[in-house]
Amino acid sequence: MASLKLLYLAIATLLLAYYLYIPLPDSIEEGWKVRLIDATFRTFGHAAGLAELLGLKHYMEVLMLMTSAEYCAPISDENVTVTDTTFNNVPVRVYLPRQESRVLRRAVIYFHGGGWCVGSAAMKPYDLLSRMTSGRLNAVVISADYRLAPHVHFPTQFEDVYTVVKFFLQKEVLAQYAVDPERIGVSGDSAGGNLAAAVAQQLQDDHEITVQLKIQALLYPALQSIDMDTPSYRENAYMPLLKKRLMVTFWSEYFTTDKSLNDAMSTNTHITLESSHLIKFANWSMLLPKEFKKDHVYRKPQHGTSHFVNKFPGILDPRAAPLLADDDKLRNLPRSYLVTCMHDVLRDDGVMYAARLKKAGVHIVHDHYDDAFHGALFFTEWPLNLSIGHRMVNRYIDWLDENL
Ligand SMILES: *[C@@H]1O[C@H](CO)[C@@H](O)[C@H](O)[C@H]1NC(C)=O
Ligand SMILES: *[C@@H]1O[C@H](CO)[C@@H](O)[C@H](O)[C@H]1NC(C)=O
Ligand SMILES: *[C@@H]1O[C@H](CO)[C@@H](O)[C@H](O)[C@H]1NC(C)=O
Repeated sequence: MASLKLLYLAIATLLLAYYLYIPLPDSIEEGWKVRLIDATFRTFGHAAGLAELLGLKHYMEVLMLMTSAEYCAPISDENVTVTDTTFNNVPVRVYLPRQESRVLRRAVIYFHGGGWCVGSAAMKPYDLLSRMTSGRLNAVVISADYRLAPHVHFPTQFEDVYTVVKFFLQKEVLAQYAVDPERIGVSGDSAGGNLAAAVAQQLQDDHEITVQLKIQALLYPALQSIDMDTPSYRENAYMPLLKKRLMVTFWSEYFTTDKSLNDAMSTNTHITLESSHLIKFANWSMLLPKEFKKDHVYRKPQHGTSHFVNKFPGILDPRAAPLLADDDKLRNLPRSYLVTCMHDVLRDDGVMYAARLKKAGVHIVHDHYDDAFHGALFFTEWPLNLSIGHRMVNRYIDWLDENL
């Protein structure tokens, strides 16, 4: 009997090790902690997949239930007063520093990540990041809770964050928060970096707004969906924490719940011949430096039916894909900070945008981390604190401090 139990135990251990063990590049530190985190994320993904298969719930709704376990209340601490409110009906979490300030304060408007489908300003890691930003910079932080897919699709997510920005940039509102109109920035990670980049571009043409942004900070942003076969998508399809499959689902879900777009995007056949004039803006063969291109052979996105682009024109809209904006739209962008991670499907989106901004004459600092993966920024609190998470957050806040 005892030996049978031992056998079961051995099998269970092997299965667990098999589940936990994923090959990781040597450059990723604290490998087992990262594997444990990744296994947790994969488990959520599998549970969501199963629930959808059984017809119980939409995949993203299950992921959302799981992220809501991470919610925390707006609790003030010794440094920062935290409150939940709304700006023109869009929920926001506001962080006001308690330190005295003889001058008007700086402000950061932050958009959380989560593929336009999940996440919230109230999630612990985002709350912590906003708190740190506010405390260390003695700045007002506005963290927006825009609506998410599958309940809404593009352009609603964009419009919600744009509403927040437009509301905040009114002279009376800035005065109410004692914010300096010349020292305001937008920032966000992943899908939030996408929204921040889109907001910065769109504000330039908005004549209702007289206040200009001083900076934009884009943390491993998603910037285009016309080519899902860049070297970084090829190399990092199975890296923590964002698999290619999930990113493709996030993109297609941003536009529609119709699964046929997801299928076309995963084979890179969702673009039509008529949209080929935009390919040059995301042509990695032209825009990536050699160290990222390596020996990858460029395959132009294949032309599919015009069905998708006609039905979901958002795919080619710079408000969804800021990398597809004309050079004219880039030239006057504010001072920029851009983070990319080597082991991230979205790496090349960021590297290409950095190249285009630089060429357009925008002042940009591009921090590329050879030893990082998508989502690393989250992990700054024990027991899931990673040294890479601390390094990223510290450099980001230092850059804000020097440039905002
Ligand atoms: C408040 O700020 C101080 C100084 O930066 C820091 O040491 C302390 O940990 C902060 N408190 C909280 C609750 O974050
Ligand atoms: C992409 O760039 C390469 C140059 O590196 C060029 O030869 C190719 O024609 C471009 N493809 C498209 C579709 O723009
Ligand atoms: C994580 O936090 C613990 C407790 O604060 C600390 O001892 C440890 O050095 C931290 N690890 C990293 C990698 O920062």
